[in-house]
Amino acid sequence: MKSKHSYSNVEKDALYRVIAERRDMRHFVNAPLEKGLLARLLTVANQAPSVGLMQPWRFIRITDQDLKIAIKERVETERKLTADLLDSRKSEFLKLKVEGILECAELLVVALPDGREKHLFGRRTMPDMDLASVSCAIQNMWLAARAEGIGLGWVSLFDPKQLATLLNMPEDSRPIAILCIGHVEKFYEKPMLVEQNWIKPIEVEQFLFENSWPKKNHS
Ligand SMILES: Cc1cc2nc3c(=O)[nH]c(=O)nc-3n(C[C@H](O)[C@H](O)[C@H](O)COP(=O)(O)O)c2cc1C
Repeated sequence: MKSKHSYSNVEKDALYRVIAERRDMRHFVNAPLEKGLLARLLTVANQAPSVGLMQPWRFIRITDQDLKIAIKERVETERKLTADLLDSRKSEFLKLKVEGILECAELLVVALPDGREKHLFGRRTMPDMDLASVSCAIQNMWLAARAEGIGLGWVSLFDPKQLATLLNMPEDSRPIAILCIGHVEKFYEKPMLVEQNWIKPIEVEQFLFENSWPKKNHS
């Protein structure tokens, strides 16, 4: 039965399209964002669901060029440390572009705040639901950015302690994402890691189980 609350077909098509065409972007062109766009992206982030409505997202807008360079250096360090663990795929990995920190129009660090322990609703057994909530906020931004024709790249190659120190963050807070946001020449048609033959995506049927975890382990 079709729901009477459904959006129109045109509206639904737009929603499914933006979900399918959202890409993690690492190549940006040098142009500022339209006035008010960053504020719209932050508004949709703040409309995301969060465990116990704790809104555990904090955004640090990075505008200082020296700080951008320092952040890029931290990512570069982590990229090399990751590469060292990849043995036979090391050189292949090092060819992948993993961030657009110095090219993007806007750079945000998204973080979990300190004092999260007082939020117990939905987190007593699963404290990491705060992280899940911030991910929802970032996905909202990602989708809205794509609809606006703007690229967003999520960078997680960094040591959170080092980045927290660099940004004068309080003890127990935790940076979880560096977001590169900006105009792009074109959006990748497929995930860049697929285009570059790093990995192949898997169809959802292989991730759906019924009633029990299957006997044969999934990797
Ligand atoms: C939590 C998270 C962390 C990520 N960290 C990085 C990163 O550090 N560098 C990078 O290039 N891409 C990063 N990505 C992007 C993924 O590589 C990308 O989402 C995936 O390859 C699928 O591509 P698509 O987003 O274009 O569909 C991250 C994505 C997520 C959700």
